[in-house]
Amino acid sequence: MKNAIISAKGLCKSFAHNGGQVHILTGLDLDIYEGDFTVIMGASGSGKSTMLYALSGMDRATGGEVLYHGENIVKMREKKLAALRRTDFGFIFQQMHLVSNLSLFENITVPGYLNRTRSAADTDQRAEQLMEQMGIAKIRTQLPSQCSGGEQQRCAIARAVINEPKLLFADEPTGALNKKNTTEVLDLLTELNRSGQSILMVTHDARAACRASRIIYIEDGKVIGELTLPPYTVQEEKSRETQIGAWLAAMKW
Ligand SMILES: Nc1ncnc2c1ncn2[C@@H]1O[C@H](COP(=O)(O)OP(=O)(O)O)[C@@H](O)[C@H]1O
Ligand SMILES: [Mg+2]
Repeated sequence: MKNAIISAKGLCKSFAHNGGQVHILTGLDLDIYEGDFTVIMGASGSGKSTMLYALSGMDRATGGEVLYHGENIVKMREKKLAALRRTDFGFIFQQMHLVSNLSLFENITVPGYLNRTRSAADTDQRAEQLMEQMGIAKIRTQLPSQCSGGEQQRCAIARAVINEPKLLFADEPTGALNKKNTTEVLDLLTELNRSGQSILMVTHDARAACRASRIIYIEDGKVIGELTLPPYTVQEEKSRETQIGAWLAAMKW
C-alpha cells in the first residue's frame, strides 16, 4: 500500500481573462504517491502546468484542497508556504532559470544556504557530491552562459535537490534539450527516483514518459486515464515504449 505524498481534492483553478474567468481546473481529485516517478501527460493547453503549479503551491488554487502531511496548502499563509516550497519541494522547468551571474556551484549552493537546517559546510559538501553525480564537477566555476543546455539543466536538477526535497516537481524538463541531453537528464531523474526521490513530471515526450512508474493523462483539467508500470529498465525500453504508445493512442493523444 503506497502512501500519498500529496493529494488534491476538488481542486479548482480559474484565471481572470478578458474581463471574465476561465476555469482550467474544475474539481481535480488526485493522489501522488511517495517513491513514485509520476508523469502527467495531456494535449497542449489541457492544464498540466496549471495543475503542477497548484499542487506545488507555486500558484494558489482558487478552490478545493491540496493536502500535504494533512495540511491544506491552499489556505496556508504565504510565508509558511514559501518556507515549505524551499525545504520540502524541488522544481525544475523547461527553461532552467539559473542565476546568470552566479557560477554553477553557486547556483546549486545558494538555496542550500537559505535553508537553515544544515550548515554551509554540509551544503558545500552535498553540492560537490551532486555535481559529481550530474557530471558537472569540472565546470563548477563556469557561468550558465558558458555551458550547454544539458549542463545547465543538470545544474538546475542539482539545485532542485540540494535540500533533499520530499517531492521533485518538473515541468517539461527536457523540452528545450536535444536527444543526447534529454537522455542524460532522464537518466539522472531515473537514478534519483531509484534512490528514493519522489518525482512529479509533466512532459509531452513519450520517451520521457517511459521513465515513469505511473502515467496520468489529463484532458480539460481532469484525469481521464492512468497507467501503472514496473520500474524502468534500459533492456525493456522498447517494449515499454510500445506499451505506452498504444495506451496514449487509446487516450487519443
Ligand atoms: N495566467 C493565465 N491567465 C489566463 N489563462 C491562463 C493562464 N495560465 C494558463 N492559462 C490557460 O490555461 C490553459 C491551460 O494552460 P497550461 O496549464 O499551461 O496547459 P499545458 O501545460 O497543459 O499546456 C490554457 O488554455 C492557457 O491559455
Ligand atoms: Mg505546460
